[in-house]
Amino acid sequence: MPAVKDFASVCRSKNAGPFMVTLDIVFETDDIYDRVAETGVLKPELFARLYSVPVTQVQFTPYRAARAFKITLPRMISSGDTGDTDVYGAQQTPLCWISIYPLMWSFAMSEADIRVHRGSSHDPEQLQSAFRQAMRRLAGGVAVVSTMHDDVRHGMTVTAVTSLTMDPPALAVSVNRHASAFEAFIRRKRFCVNLLTHQHTNLAVAFSRKPDGDARFASGEWRINDAGLPSLEGSVASITCRLHDLAEFGTHAILIGAVEHLELAPQQPTAPLIYLSGQFGRFWPLSA
Ligand SMILES: Cc1cc2nc3c(=O)[nH]c(=O)nc-3n(C[C@H](O)[C@H](O)[C@H](O)COP(=O)(O)O)c2cc1C
Repeated sequence: MPAVKDFASVCRSKNAGPFMVTLDIVFETDDIYDRVAETGVLKPELFARLYSVPVTQVQFTPYRAARAFKITLPRMISSGDTGDTDVYGAQQTPLCWISIYPLMWSFAMSEADIRVHRGSSHDPEQLQSAFRQAMRRLAGGVAVVSTMHDDVRHGMTVTAVTSLTMDPPALAVSVNRHASAFEAFIRRKRFCVNLLTHQHTNLAVAFSRKPDGDARFASGEWRINDAGLPSLEGSVASITCRLHDLAEFGTHAILIGAVEHLELAPQQPTAPLIYLSGQFGRFWPLSA
């Protein structure tokens, strides 16, 4: 998993006195520095925790002009002379290896993502490219929509699922009309939305690739539920819907599903699978 060492161009420590150490974390570009700063991950509390010192004794200086963070901390055991660089890395090792989800996501984006994209309907190609980038940055919960038609199971991975109303309970799924499962959803008029957990990454990939049809169900544990639809064991929730309506737009159609039946797993330990910037991940609360 990417860590601070992967983002920083310099991550060093040196003795600032017999019982003081200074850490420098320098980033190559203003943009990278700004993104790290925006995540709020590098903060005095983090260093206090990593180096087991009271937070009041952490001097934390964000130094944007140098694209650097400078952190000075007390050291319990002195070693070497003042100004000596810690060449063996013992002091900065804990820092270099912190891997933190907000940081990882912030850097999961390619160079192309860093550019500011602007688009307008005057240039449809550019608009589409900017829109694609924008949607990559919208985190989505991952689900597999499944059905059974003429004794053949069909399913596909989706993120475009949203709750539509609570009264009556209904959801909407946006599905490509060329997807192999589309016809079966329409003909069977029932489908099951299985919300995936963070342990279902391989399954999410399998349900977005060839082979299609029944072969996809080799991934994961599936059973046939009371409505006669494939339902994923160990999902966050499996929601059986009756196809109430369909709205076509461009390449896709929105399936409006009236909820008929629902199986919900206990909240722990079934953390949902999240998709963002072309990567699978988990939700990481800011308060953690
Ligand atoms: C994470 C992820 C999310 C996806 N979300 C959607 C979606 O919301 N709607 C959609 O039509 N296709 C979505 N897809 C693509 C379909 O899963 C994929 O195109 C389809 O299953 C493959 O088409 P086929 O069944 O014709 O082989 C997604 C794929 C992945 C990997």
